[in-house]
Amino acid sequence: MPDLIIKNARLFIGDILQPAEIAVDNGKISSVKKNIDTKSYNEVINAKSALVLPGAIDVHVHFRDPGMTKKENWYTGSCAAAAGGVTTVIDHPNTIPSTTDAESFKKKLKAARKSIVDYGINAGVTANLTTLKGMWELGAISFGEIFMAESTGKLNINERTLNQALATIGNLGATACIHAEDEEIRQKFVHLLKGNLEPGSHSRTRPPLSEKTAVEKAIKHAGETKLHFCHISAGESLEIIKNAKQVHKITCEVAPHHLFLNTNDWKRLGTLGKMNPPLRDYRNQQSLWDGLNNGIIDIVASDHAPHLEHEKMTDIWTAPAGVPGVETMMPLMLMAVKRNLLTLKRLIEVTSLNPARIFNLKKGVLAPGYDADMIIVGKPEQIRKEKMHSRAGWTPYHGMKAMFPKLTISRGEIIMEDAGITAKRGRGRFIPGKGIIAGNDVE
Ligand code: DOR
Ligand code: ZN
Ligand code: ZN
Repeated sequence: MPDLIIKNARLFIGDILQPAEIAVDNGKISSVKKNIDTKSYNEVINAKSALVLPGAIDVHVHFRDPGMTKKENWYTGSCAAAAGGVTTVIDHPNTIPSTTDAESFKKKLKAARKSIVDYGINAGVTANLTTLKGMWELGAISFGEIFMAESTGKLNINERTLNQALATIGNLGATACIHAEDEEIRQKFVHLLKGNLEPGSHSRTRPPLSEKTAVEKAIKHAGETKLHFCHISAGESLEIIKNAKQVHKITCEVAPHHLFLNTNDWKRLGTLGKMNPPLRDYRNQQSLWDGLNNGIIDIVASDHAPHLEHEKMTDIWTAPAGVPGVETMMPLMLMAVKRNLLTLKRLIEVTSLNPARIFNLKKGVLAPGYDADMIIVGKPEQIRKEKMHSRAGWTPYHGMKAMFPKLTISRGEIIMEDAGITAKRGRGRFIPGKGIIAGNDVE
């Protein structure tokens, strides 16, 4: 008997919002129709005319596991994802050990078995390029984030290594995800601003110029390799990316903290507001909204970077960089749609359609044959830090209005209902990249 049917939903089909019903069979969508006979289904969910969307695919999370599990682990991180309407994540390599060779890749695979949502795992890039192929064959979904400047984990590489890494990644037919900030520029400004204890000085040590310069350098070495720029934060970087898209295979993402926060928030957040790239001014923030609406930006991804509140409560130079975001990304974006900052069509593109297309996932579409990953959208409410599922235990968006999912469904199974996790620990599945070699997917 088919598993599940969702009645009385509102779906975005053929560019319009319309009433529809969805049937799920063996974890996959089997039909989407105006009316489906409920009699033969195990479970019937009445969406009561609420909006039903594909579950979000967050291509940029740091779940800290293995090695930093007091900040987050695969269970808590994936619960936060489910509570925020994210049904697939891609985890990045700056764990301990860093995911930079076959052995550490296998450790990450093992740690990830706690996840309640499906996941891809990225392979990190250091000066040792001989390890890349091995991780690709173990099913890495893509490479990176490749750090061009110092950040959490200190995995940054120099331009020469970047050049060689991009050639190697290109030969594998894989995508390189780039953290674009220029280390030389950063060092110059750190030297100039040393001793300045104002939190806002962090934005000045990593100015828009440092991102733009790094974007230019990466493009210079791109050749035929597919580049995906992580968390673009400055208008001038978007200009370069827009032009380079004519010649190279380039995509880019924006993080919610650069869309919903700006340098005015230093006052409210203090050192909690530290992340890399840093908070930008209002003008850059507006350029990001423009880039999102006009198609230069392809994806919204959280860069979920949990650190504990007390770890952040020190001087701005010592505080770790990064903010939690996987749980609040979709709710904030849905609220932005309600406020007409972007269309519903564009929201679906940047949170599910494009991530699936760019990272080759058979997900992100509410149509027969696809994984039944979806959310039923709830009403606007306040973001409360005490309600968050992440181990970080705080959020930079406390008090802001957002629209959380009422229900999150992954492969036809309800994994979150009314902020409560209903999924069994470890039900999430590894999604191997296209380089996987048969036999490597079983342990
Ligand atoms: O703010 C950031 N936090 N930027 C990064 O590049 C890394 C991340 C983290 O892992 O903490
Ligand atoms: Zn980064
Ligand atoms: Zn990151």
